Amino acid sequence: MPREYRYQKLEKWLLKGLQEQRWPPGERLPSIRDLCEQQQISKATVLHAYQRLEALGLIESRPKAGYFVLKPGKETPKPRTTATMLPPRPVSLSDVFADIMSRSAAFDILPDLQAGEPSPGITALNRCLSRALRSQRGDRSQYYDQPAGDPGLREQLALHYHRRGYYHCKAEHFCITSGCQHAMFLALMACCQRGDIVAVESPGFYGVLQMLEQLELRVIEIPSSPVHGMDMDALENALKQWPIRACVVSPAYATPSGALMPDSARKKLLSLAEEHDLAIVEDDIYADTGFVQQPDPLKALDQDNRVILCSSFSKSLSRDLRLGWIDGARWHARILRLKLVTQLASSRYLQQGVCEFIRDGGYRSYLKRQRLELRNNRDQLIHLIQQHWPKQLSKTTRISQPNGGLALWLELDNHQDTLSCYQQALQQGIVITPGALFSVSGQHSHCLRLSFAHHWDDKRTQALTQLGQVLNA
Ligand SMILES: Cc1ncc(COP(=O)(O)O)c(C=O)c1O
Repeated sequence: MPREYRYQKLEKWLLKGLQEQRWPPGERLPSIRDLCEQQQISKATVLHAYQRLEALGLIESRPKAGYFVLKPGKETPKPRTTATMLPPRPVSLSDVFADIMSRSAAFDILPDLQAGEPSPGITALNRCLSRALRSQRGDRSQYYDQPAGDPGLREQLALHYHRRGYYHCKAEHFCITSGCQHAMFLALMACCQRGDIVAVESPGFYGVLQMLEQLELRVIEIPSSPVHGMDMDALENALKQWPIRACVVSPAYATPSGALMPDSARKKLLSLAEEHDLAIVEDDIYADTGFVQQPDPLKALDQDNRVILCSSFSKSLSRDLRLGWIDGARWHARILRLKLVTQLASSRYLQQGVCEFIRDGGYRSYLKRQRLELRNNRDQLIHLIQQHWPKQLSKTTRISQPNGGLALWLELDNHQDTLSCYQQALQQGIVITPGALFSVSGQHSHCLRLSFAHHWDDKRTQALTQLGQVLNA
């Protein structure tokens, strides 16, 4: 019998209570403190159980108010798993894709924000960067940094991951890169050879598809649910049929779906990886945005040193820093060489400035604020869709409810083609990310990713209303 953890026991007890309507729809659930005292368990255990029920769409947390039972009528329909599994194939992306990708990469799904004052967190970061630049002495700028990157920054990253349950993490495991895209590119170069098959989530991040095309790797798309991520049974099935070399996954708040991979799926993925000698490339870029929880990385469970952990500050702090990192597992030495070949070195002053920002506690407090804002933006976007889109459209659209990340995944009626809506929206100055972008096999063409990275001012709300009309036409 598998061991039942405390959070699972609590989850079962809460589920039973919900079924018996001990807390009717709309009612507040017991506070975290009360549950800790009543059941003699830790705050983390209670939070874990509540977050799982939230992911199931049964309850919702409200800032500073607690957890509440969702009213059935209020709940937005969740997207379903729609992808089907096709045999591995080479990746060949059209020019239209390249065009949309280049516009959407900036995540400006709707019109850009007016330039305003930077947030206090960014001002503090800028101060650290200026200080680091000023403190560069003599001729150091005439020398390249070591390929692995600044030891201080790597030390801070190791501490950061210790807090997220990756206890055996060390500074020397990391190599600093020019963003997460660069990190994943190095990972795929290190563990694959031309023609190899790579499993990816479907829908999944289009940047990965671009890399597979560039490296002449073949792709197999594994259906992924917007709630639990990659379907492990489908992956197992694929592994029985084809010699898959690597698997790219985003266990924490994957884009576009916002899915959070449960523990059971993580364990299964690692045991499949061992059985079939798979390399796992973990894209951890959204984990720090988690509204209530920053889940442990998959890497924390990796006993076999086959999970390559990739991430960056692009989604949690600044896209413009172009600073990322890679923990290359058993491919570390190879990755260091590849970093040297592709980038020589990273900017020393940028690394040192960011290192100081983290060491000073600036990053942690920035994240705290950012998470609250993102969560508000998410709630507002769902509310605005319901309020401003034509009734029939908002009623039939299935909307994800991610607890992290920067975007919602919308599943429209099957006959919709969001790629053609893309052109119409563009004529009105609105950039959207059509679903077709998240697959190479023409799937998800009735879906759409909408960003909530920015707050909803009048201009953006107006654009969202116009978008509703375009989709409804
Ligand atoms: C899931 C995911 N991974 C990686 C990247 C690339 O990140 P970076 O800007 O750090 O290269 C992005 C950027 O959009 C992304 O959404």
